[in-house]
Amino acid sequence: MGCILGIESSCDETAAAVVDDALRVRASVVASQHELHGEYGGVVPEIASRAHLERIVPVVERALSEAGIALSEIDAIAAGVRPGLIGSLLVGTSAAKGLAWARGTPFYAIDHVAAHLFAGLLRGRDDDSGAAAEESLPALGLVVSGGHTSLFRIASAIDCTLVGRTIDDAVGEALDKAAAMLGLPHPGGPNLERLAETGDAQALRFPLPQLANPLDFSLSGLKTKLLYEIRGVPQGRGASSSFARSVDDLAPSRRADLAASFQRAAIAQVVDRLARAADAHPVRGVFVGGGVVANRTLRRELSAWAMERGVALVVPEPRYCADNAAMIAGYAQLRRRLGDAGDDLSVPAEAVSRLARGEPVVRGGAAAKRVQ
Ligand code: KG4
Ligand code: ZN
Repeated sequence: MGCILGIESSCDETAAAVVDDALRVRASVVASQHELHGEYGGVVPEIASRAHLERIVPVVERALSEAGIALSEIDAIAAGVRPGLIGSLLVGTSAAKGLAWARGTPFYAIDHVAAHLFAGLLRGRDDDSGAAAEESLPALGLVVSGGHTSLFRIASAIDCTLVGRTIDDAVGEALDKAAAMLGLPHPGGPNLERLAETGDAQALRFPLPQLANPLDFSLSGLKTKLLYEIRGVPQGRGASSSFARSVDDLAPSRRADLAASFQRAAIAQVVDRLARAADAHPVRGVFVGGGVVANRTLRRELSAWAMERGVALVVPEPRYCADNAAMIAGYAQLRRRLGDAGDDLSVPAEAVSRLARGEPVVRGGAAAKRVQ
């Protein structure tokens, strides 16, 4: 069975999960803090780390009890150690290191972006079917989350090469800001999706950005266009500039049309970059992950594209798109399968992803250089 306990606390979700060596999720517990941050319109780091401290032990205990496994039967402990809010990361990372040290088990320090990338390989508790990951390799990988929009070429779970990334906002971040401009509450992405359902996605046309690296992304121009559409082009210059309208002046149907059009433009860019990457690097599969992949329109577009292109789409169930600990334990299992015995307990928590910076996913792993 060979179970790994995973812990995730990089942002505003306290999570623990148990995943076996066939990547079956025996238990996955996620305690969301949305209610604590809602009134501030975004995540407040100090509130997040305090809430992680209160929740981490009960969440780990619940994951073990739902999995029906004792801590003494766990083979290894994994934690998301980067990227994220440093105070939040420290809670989960310290808990995992403490458990690994006390139990004398291996410790896996996991890059959250790599975990999102391979979350599509997670399987149900009783799932004995499941295609091997190797059948979809070589592959492209795409992480679309609140903090990252990164495109990779994947030779193996530990050999990923960064080939494109956003030069400004991540797609999730842009959707959250668009939602705020349209007067929607935090968390923006899911609320924007709901409003978009009643709107006309053709109402407003956004151009596809053309960048020096054709596999890079840019969302800031789309955001500005949306802002001017909602509030009018600002009058005057610099600090004295002012908008003629507020979002409250928009008719409800126009708000829905703008939500649908903006969401459509963001998704069109994602599919366009994937198509360009598949032209440049012929592959057998595409691994996608990250919170935005929970979006139903994006999922539909991705599967239509993959089917037409004849590539295998490895996409997580919606609950494993958002931050969770099953993806952390799952990625540790993939590393273990490749003969990786884990990391030293001295590995620090870090604010930035090494993978998304174009560095190796694991110490001693194949160099993941940025190609451009
Ligand atoms: O992966 P994730 O949970 O956290 C990060 O690692 O960033 O991603 C969170 C992002 C947020 O920007 C959120 O608005 C977006 O994913 N998101 C969605 C949906 N659900 C979450 N965006 C669009 N549609 C959704 N259904
Ligand atoms: Zn994430």
